[in-house]
Amino acid sequence: MAQLSRIPVALLLVLVAGEAAATPYARGRDAQLASSYSRVFSFGDSLTDTGNAAILPATAGGPSSHAPYGETYFHHPSGRASDGRLIIDFIVESLGLPEPAPYLAGETADDFRHGANFAVGGATALDPAFLKSRGIATFVPVSLSNETSWFNNVLELLASTAYEEESDIMATSVFYFGEIGVNDYIFALFSNRTAEFAASFVPDIVAVTRSALNAVVAAGARTVLVTGMIPLGCEPELLALFPGDAHGESGCITGFNEIAQLHNRALNCMLRELRRSHPGTTLFYADIYSPIANLVASPGKYGFGDRPLAAFCGGGAGPYHFDMAAFCGTSDSTASSDPSEFLSWDGIHFTDAANRFIAQALLRGLYNASAMAEPQTALF
Ligand SMILES: *[C@@H]1O[C@H](CO)[C@@H](O)[C@H](O)[C@H]1NC(C)=O
Ligand SMILES: *[C@@H]1O[C@H](CO)[C@@H](O)[C@H](O)[C@H]1NC(C)=O
Ligand SMILES: *[C@@H]1O[C@H](CO)[C@@H](O)[C@H](O)[C@H]1NC(C)=O
Repeated sequence: MAQLSRIPVALLLVLVAGEAAATPYARGRDAQLASSYSRVFSFGDSLTDTGNAAILPATAGGPSSHAPYGETYFHHPSGRASDGRLIIDFIVESLGLPEPAPYLAGETADDFRHGANFAVGGATALDPAFLKSRGIATFVPVSLSNETSWFNNVLELLASTAYEEESDIMATSVFYFGEIGVNDYIFALFSNRTAEFAASFVPDIVAVTRSALNAVVAAGARTVLVTGMIPLGCEPELLALFPGDAHGESGCITGFNEIAQLHNRALNCMLRELRRSHPGTTLFYADIYSPIANLVASPGKYGFGDRPLAAFCGGGAGPYHFDMAAFCGTSDSTASSDPSEFLSWDGIHFTDAANRFIAQALLRGLYNASAMAEPQTALF
């Protein structure tokens, strides 16, 4: 038990110290403990992609390669689907670690010494061939299984250098699984407009997520953060494209949020099983559903404006400011003045301000989950 608790405790102290902008005591701790981790490996889709889709031939030149993407933070399009940073950027910063290199931007062991990000905008959890067999079209030839095999390539590359043993590499890395599966659900909804059909993929999506987690755990991962599903029914894109679906109190589509809740319950159930079979690995559930739902319900309370269901950048006359034909970055799109008042950047992805809010809530949730799992004193 003592040994088990050391890893999350070290991670949490670093996270909490990094986030709580530091008393001198925390700063000393931070410096000391940041050395527990050397790098982050991350997986996912456009909510986590820091540059791969901009390089992949199938998606290069897409919206996030154009202004106004990146305008708030990087001041140029950075390959991220936002006006600034993503959740992963804030997490990496809290850990005091360098940014992992987008997998497609690197080549040598040296390029990946500080970690790698395998997430690709448009990626599905399930293989495109499987989805096609169910009548679902996809747009990007990358699924979670590709990302896992890319990770194996990087691990082999790193272990081939004389500097570090594979087991040390694994033990000193944080694995971040960003949300994955949102594209599967959205493409399923495009193909058959019922929530029942999309929800029927929950077991398959959770099963491939489990396979990917098993792959890194089998390779020796010790610290893994697994992100849940976003409230699908609050996405401006879906609100604009499914105007006939029933809306709940906060204006989100009830049936689509239920898909996400079902997904998150199944994911947690799977994580509980994995924890039992791999007691040497700490698997955190990273809740992003709750902070987003809270923001949508009470934006003013958190310093956001009063249109949490509208895209900041987009088009169309409707209340959601979303129209595929005037997607953010195209010449027909328009934007309001201050993205920090908005939750949604382009109708699908979040603003820098929202990502910061979500990341902070996610980290507080990890802290709480660990405090519940371990005696409080084990944290210090
Ligand atoms: C992903 O994996 C599939 C199946 O192995 C393969 O056909 C496809 O080319 C891979 N995608 C990329 C971008 O490597
Ligand atoms: C859509 O999905 C539902 C529920 O799975 C199914 O009953 C229906 O036949 C599907 N419709 C089409 C057109 O495939
Ligand atoms: C833990 O969770 C409780 C209840 O959700 C919340 O009030 C509290 O602020 C959380 N603790 C931290 C450290 O975030």
